[in-house]
Amino acid sequence: MKNNYSTKDIDFSNEIINWYISSGREDLPWRKNISGYRVWISEIMLQQTQVKTAIPFYKKFIKKYPNLKSIAPATEDDILALWTGLGFYRRAKNIFKAKEIIKKEYSNRFPTKFDELILLPGIGQSTAGAIMSIAYGKSYPILDANVKRVISRYKNINLEKKDAMKNLWSLSKSLTPINNIFEYTQGIMDLGATTCNARSPNCKECPINQSCESAFEKFEIGNKNKKEKSKKKIYFTLAHSKKSFLLFKKNEKTFWESLWVPYDNQNLKKSNIFKEPSKSEIKNFNHTLSHMDLDITIEIFDYKRPFKIKTNLEHRWVSKSQIDNFGLPKPIKTIIENYG
Ligand code: ADE
Repeated sequence: MKNNYSTKDIDFSNEIINWYISSGREDLPWRKNISGYRVWISEIMLQQTQVKTAIPFYKKFIKKYPNLKSIAPATEDDILALWTGLGFYRRAKNIFKAKEIIKKEYSNRFPTKFDELILLPGIGQSTAGAIMSIAYGKSYPILDANVKRVISRYKNINLEKKDAMKNLWSLSKSLTPINNIFEYTQGIMDLGATTCNARSPNCKECPINQSCESAFEKFEIGNKNKKEKSKKKIYFTLAHSKKSFLLFKKNEKTFWESLWVPYDNQNLKKSNIFKEPSKSEIKNFNHTLSHMDLDITIEIFDYKRPFKIKTNLEHRWVSKSQIDNFGLPKPIKTIIENYG
């Protein structure tokens, strides 16, 4: 990638590279045994999840699927099962789709070119840039939330302006060095997550505080851009018999898409697909998604034995011991694990 550096830009990247070497989080699990595949999985997880939360999920994922060969036969459910509790399940579905494409079109070898990576589901310009620079040492710019914050403060860019993103990409390109790209990319991500964090940046300790246009400013952490979350009531019926639960694969293109959930029983009208249970119990709780607050009521129906139902919806009785092999929303999984 072509780049026209100014001396100031070189200072910026050198400071970040040196800072990464002395203060970066070198022990993060995706920074060891680097491969395109492993960096890809970590970058997808880190797209909407903080490092601390992502670590145990990443370790579990890599333990089960250490490389493309091991993930090649996995079903979408197998991958969703490892995503329970992480949220933004579309990411897991995109990993499934992408590994299928890699199998068919790349003889199951992980793509090494930016133009190939960016065509895969779930991989945008920043994620492709991160894979190119971290896995392959190639100079490509990135612009995830942390980098956006560092650069916008450094150059005092107003994020509310119309062309802010275009401007930031162009700055990210000109600030990205040719050499030591691994250290630079990880360093600028780390700087944004730690020293130059959103709420209380530690400008005193920052390696670029001499040239940063916003250094030592008071940063407003308003909620002014925070949208009011919508609220939704959900009524589920969970049929249970002999440690098995009747679950349905959710196929609407909204939250929890493709996960296994109890029967969605709008308005708690007793659905005629369920017979009278021998015992029932109601649970009610709130669950927060990134964009919505859910008020969930689950009616649990106990039956002497599992039964067949007539429906076009994809469904199955899942035994409690099998639950780890299915992608379930975390609160539903917890109810099942603690029931009976
Ligand atoms: N956020 C996105 N990618 C990251 C990485 N590789 N290390 C730390 N934080 C990240």
